[in-house]
Amino acid sequence: MVTLRDIACEGLQRLQDQGVPSVPLDAEARGVLHNWSAQPAPAVPPRPSPLDLDTPEKKIDYLRQRALDWPPVRRLTTLRDTMVFSVGDVHAKLVVVGEAPGYDEERLGEPFVGKSGQKFNQILAAMGLRRDQIYITNLCKFRPSIGPNQGTANRSPKPEEVAACLPILLAELRAIRPVCVLCLGATAAQGLLGGMGSVSARRGVWHYREGKLPVRVTYHPSYLLRNESIAARRAVWEDMLAVMEMLGLPISEKQRGYFLPRRAVYPGQAH
Ligand code: URA
Repeated sequence: MVTLRDIACEGLQRLQDQGVPSVPLDAEARGVLHNWSAQPAPAVPPRPSPLDLDTPEKKIDYLRQRALDWPPVRRLTTLRDTMVFSVGDVHAKLVVVGEAPGYDEERLGEPFVGKSGQKFNQILAAMGLRRDQIYITNLCKFRPSIGPNQGTANRSPKPEEVAACLPILLAELRAIRPVCVLCLGATAAQGLLGGMGSVSARRGVWHYREGKLPVRVTYHPSYLLRNESIAARRAVWEDMLAVMEMLGLPISEKQRGYFLPRRAVYPGQAH
């Protein structure tokens, strides 16, 4: 749990890092600090030795705890407090990476459960997969803040927020060791692959993180909610077919043909 004392210490540390030599304190603030210094420091839970983290389950559990008070993220004041950690099978062959939780995800505590999530579930079902057979995560585990009256509005994470969150995602990938990763949208791809490339520039081919881990980039499901064209749906589906091939999943003729333009067949014409 992050205490007031932790937040005050982080704030003072940040000022010191910025070169601020001293901070004026009124009598009340001096009193509070005096009380804090008189209390014993809260017990820090012992870190498990890496040797104890010998299964993906234990590694992911540990990362869930670390992500809760990961200092680079806590130092930012632009992400909200509620963590939405990953879900799914820690032995999955496929890891799906989105950008950050939105209103629905924060409310329900699970990635991809709002409208984008429902669209994504349809895509998964068309691939013959269920959510519990894959691992679903986000680059940022906290919803980006827009301010006190945020309501249902969401925003994409900024580069410094992505940079702060990325180490947790990379540690998740090292724990799970999937066959491949699917990035939904440009932000997830920019985090994992670097650079500022758009989805159109990156989709349609395999990328390799650190020359090893195959990464496929496709449009975010929210894009499909805004653009229902056959071309957009086919583009995503072609990426899904490539992912299915990479995973060694069976692909039926029907699946191969989804969203292909139908040739008009006239009465009397041979098929
Ligand atoms: N969009 C994302 O990128 N991730 C979510 O979890 C929900 C919406």
